[in-house]
This record gives sequence, C-alpha cells and structure tokens, in this order.
Amino acid sequence: MRITGQTRIMFILADAVGHIVGSDVLNQAFEREGLDVAVSPLSIAPEDLKMAVQTIRCLKNVIGFGVTIPHKTEIARYLDDVTPEAQAMGAVNFVRRFPDGRLLGHNVDGAGFVVGLRAEGIEAKGKRILQAGAGGVGKAIAHAVAAEGCASITLVNRDLQKAARLGGELSNRFPGVRVNALAGFDGLQAGQFDMIVNATALGMEEGDPRPVPEHLIVPEAVVAEVVMQPAVTKLLETAATKGCKTIPGKAMMEPQPALVAKFLELL
Ligand SMILES: NC(=O)c1ccc[n+]([C@@H]2O[C@H](COP(=O)([O-])OP(=O)(O)OC[C@H]3O[C@@H](n4cnc5c(N)ncnc54)[C@H](OP(=O)(O)O)[C@@H]3O)[C@@H](O)[C@H]2O)c1
Repeated sequence: MRITGQTRIMFILADAVGHIVGSDVLNQAFEREGLDVAVSPLSIAPEDLKMAVQTIRCLKNVIGFGVTIPHKTEIARYLDDVTPEAQAMGAVNFVRRFPDGRLLGHNVDGAGFVVGLRAEGIEAKGKRILQAGAGGVGKAIAHAVAAEGCASITLVNRDLQKAARLGGELSNRFPGVRVNALAGFDGLQAGQFDMIVNATALGMEEGDPRPVPEHLIVPEAVVAEVVMQPAVTKLLETAATKGCKTIPGKAMMEPQPALVAKFLELL
C-alpha cells in the first residue's frame, strides 16, 4: 500500500487494539476496489475519547472512522448526528466526517447480517426467527431482520431484562412483527422456527455449551452464527450434521467494507 498526500485517511478507534483486524479487512477491500484510502487502528482510552473526536474534526484528509469496543455507545454524544440505524441500535460503528468537520454516526452490523444472508440466497422476510442473545450484535441483527419484515422474533437471553427491553423496542418500531422475550428455551418446540441465530458470545471458547438446544435445530431451519473464531462453532457443526443451511459468522463481516464505502460515498 502506498500512502501519499492524495490518500484519504480512516481510523478505527478502540482502546486495546492488539486484536483489531478490521483495519486490514478494510484496507484490502479498498485496495481491491482501487480506492486510495488507508485505515489505521488508534488506541484511545475512554477518558480521552471526547478530545480525540474533536481533533478528528480538524483533520482535513480524514474521511471517517470506525468505532469499536469500548467506544461504540459513548461516541454518539460527541457526534453531530446519527442515522436511524445507529439510533435504533444505540451504538455507532462507523462515522462519516464531512469536509466542514461535521460527524455523522452509523451502524452497519445489522445491514451486514442481512446482506450476508442474501449472499447465501436467504431472505429474512417472512421468517420465524429464534435469536439467542440480546447484546450489541443481537440488537443490531434483531432490528435489521425486523426491518426486513420477518414474521416473528423470539429473543432468548440469560439476562431477561435485556431481551425484554430489546423486545419492547422492536414492538414499538415494527408493530407487524410478533416479538417474544424469554430467559431460556423451556417450552419452545422443534419446527417452530425457520431461522436460528446465535448472537451470543457462546462458541468462542472450546468448552462453551451450544447456545441453542439441539432439539430445536431441525433440518428445515437456517442456522446463522455471529462468532467468527472458530469459523465452525459447535452450533454450526451440529446444524450441518442435521442438514441445515448454515451461515458462518464471517458472512456478516464480509459485506461491511462495501457498506462502509457506500456510507462514506467512496465509490
Ligand atoms: N460476525 C460479526 O461480524 C461480528 C461482529 C461483532 C461481534 N461479533 C461477535 O458477536 C458476539 C457478541 O458480541 P456483542 O458485541 O453482542 O457482545 P455483548 O454486547 O457483550 O453481548 C454478549 C451476548 O452474549 C451473551 N452471553 C455471553 N456469555 C454468555 C454465556 N456464558 N451464556 C449465555 N449467554 C452469554 C450475553 O448475554 P447476557 O446479556 O445475559 O450477558 C449477550 O447476549 C461476540 O462473539 C463477537 O465476537 C461478530
């Protein structure tokens, strides 16, 4: 990669940056598209976030930046505006910097999931969805599949309050979608769901239990995962053995460079 005075600059704001691979993913994708854009992680402590954002307003060759843990929620208060997607998700993962220094926050996680499904020939519209997890990614996915017109969404989260809060938001925003929030899988039956989504962190560690009980995984269901490492989690392994269509965690990440390029109007 050549970085010159013509190169448009992006950052990814995080605190610990050792694990960040998003900059590499974006750099490679932009290079493939022939875009003269360079992305670098920046390590910023939460107490310095405000100052960092104010500084970026003045950096005239910066076109925007990504935002990740722990800044995804906090960042909104330092921006001029956020898109309806970021507003609904309560989190920002990309920010566009306009030439006058104005900053607009957006979130592409949910769109990434929907586009990733579509790339595999799956539409969320009309689906009865069982989703484990109601954290940051869970919220993004639930809003995105509801916006696509899924028939119903059953949220299961060990912290029931979180699931209920998300369920309430979905019911308000999408009155046509049936929403159910539960603390566990008791009472749910095989065949009740067309799509099963793991939006929890379960599956990252070797000893993790399956995030969804095996009896609910039926061959007719599409099974989608958010965990990217390992690429084939216990859930995906079980689903594949049963003959389900499976969607790996990387499917929602892969469309993100194109979604970011569109948001920043790079193309
Ligand atoms: N594929 C992608 O593009 C992509 C993008 C971002 C993140 N991710 C992955 O998505 C996963 C979740 O990230 P996040 O940002 O949503 O995190 P988060 O906001 O911290 O939420 C974590 C979720 O996992 C649940 N959970 C965690 N440990 C659990 C356990 N032992 N048993 C049951 N539930 C458990 C939490 O339940 P409680 O609410 O009850 O704690 C919550 O629903 C991570 O693995 C992350 O790497 C993937």
